This record gives sequence, C-alpha cells and structure tokens, in this order.
Amino acid sequence: VSTIHEAVKPLSWLIGRWRSVNAEATYPTMAPFNYCEEISFETLGQPLLNYTSKTWHPLTHKPMHLESGFLRIKPGTNEIAFMVAHNFGLTSLEEGTVHSNEVIFKSKQITRMTFASDPAVLAIERCFKLKDNGNLEVSVSMETTKTPLTHHLKSELQKV
Ligand code: HEM
Repeated sequence: VSTIHEAVKPLSWLIGRWRSVNAEATYPTMAPFNYCEEISFETLGQPLLNYTSKTWHPLTHKPMHLESGFLRIKPGTNEIAFMVAHNFGLTSLEEGTVHSNEVIFKSKQITRMTFASDPAVLAIERCFKLKDNGNLEVSVSMETTKTPLTHHLKSELQKV
C-alpha cells in the first residue's frame, strides 16, 4: 500500500475496493434491473486516485458497464475533478466538491465516439457517499438527447 499523498487526504475514505451488496439501474426508457459492481479507488502515492468500476450481470456474470479514470483534487481546496472513460464509447469530465462523507459531481464535458449508439448523453450527475454503516452509496443521474436529467443508478457497496 502506497503512502497517501497529503493532497488527497480529504478523499482517503474512498480508497479501497468496494463490492456491491445491491445495485439497481432504472431509466424511463427501460425496465429496471439489478447488477453487480466492484469499484476501486487506489493510490500510488500520487496526488490523485486511480478509479475503476466493473459491473456484471448477476446471473450470467457477463461484463456490463465498465469505467476507468482518475480523481484529482485541487490541493488545499475541496474542488475535485473526475476524468472517466466508459466502455460504450464515451468520456466524461466531471467536477464537484468533496465533503466529510461524500463527493458530488456534475459533468463539465462529455465526448463520444462517432459510432457510439444513440441517444447521446448530455449530462451526468453523481454522488459517492460513505454511509453511517461504513458502506459506500453511489447514485447517478443522466440527461440524454431523449430524456431530461433522470435517475439511472443506485448501488450500495461494502469494503472488500
Ligand atoms: C441504458 C448511459 C451506467 C446499463 C443507458 C443509456 C444511456 C446510458 C445513454 C440509453 C438510454 C436510452 O436509450 O434512453 C449510462 C451512463 C452510465 C451508465 C452515462 C454511467 C455514468 C450503467 C451501468 C449499467 C448500465 C453501471 C449496468 C450495470 C444500462 C442498460 C441500459 C442502459 C442495460 C439499457 C439498454 C440499452 O439501452 O443499451 N445507459 N449508463 N448503465 N444502461 Fe446505462
């Protein structure tokens, strides 16, 4: 385990591997479903955290949505930036703030491959929150070219 860089100390409660105890996706354009998820926030001693999220189907175990990126903090402030690449052809730059038990983000910029499937995502809002029971709660809302900002994901994960 690397030493935690002074700059990322406000984010230290996020560091580790987290495994879902429940996770549900909903959206007006689809039937709700459950999924499994593992999230990792890792430090290599740099002033940033390395992030991955892997999700899979609970019955077939087939991989679903995958994300990989970096979480940075403006040293000495509570301002944070989250750069994420999504496996379905999209990248998001999200910015927000860190508090004692949560980080909240709004997308600043989203880019997509020319051959990514429609609808395009116009905005993402998300929150990672450390609950009183020590679990991590993740919630994500998104806006697309067809649907205004609406809840898409909610998961609760236990530290592995
Ligand atoms: C649907 C984006 C995370 C599974 C969608 C759609 C978009 C989208 C744009 C299409 C909505 C429509 O047709 O109106 C995102 C973004 C995510 C995210 C930006 C993360 C920030 C996830 C995760 C899972 C997932 C974690 C699964 C574990 C699905 C499925 C559908 C869907 C199965 C419906 C099938 C489809 O339209 O392809 N998502 N998603 N998504 N999402 Fe997500």
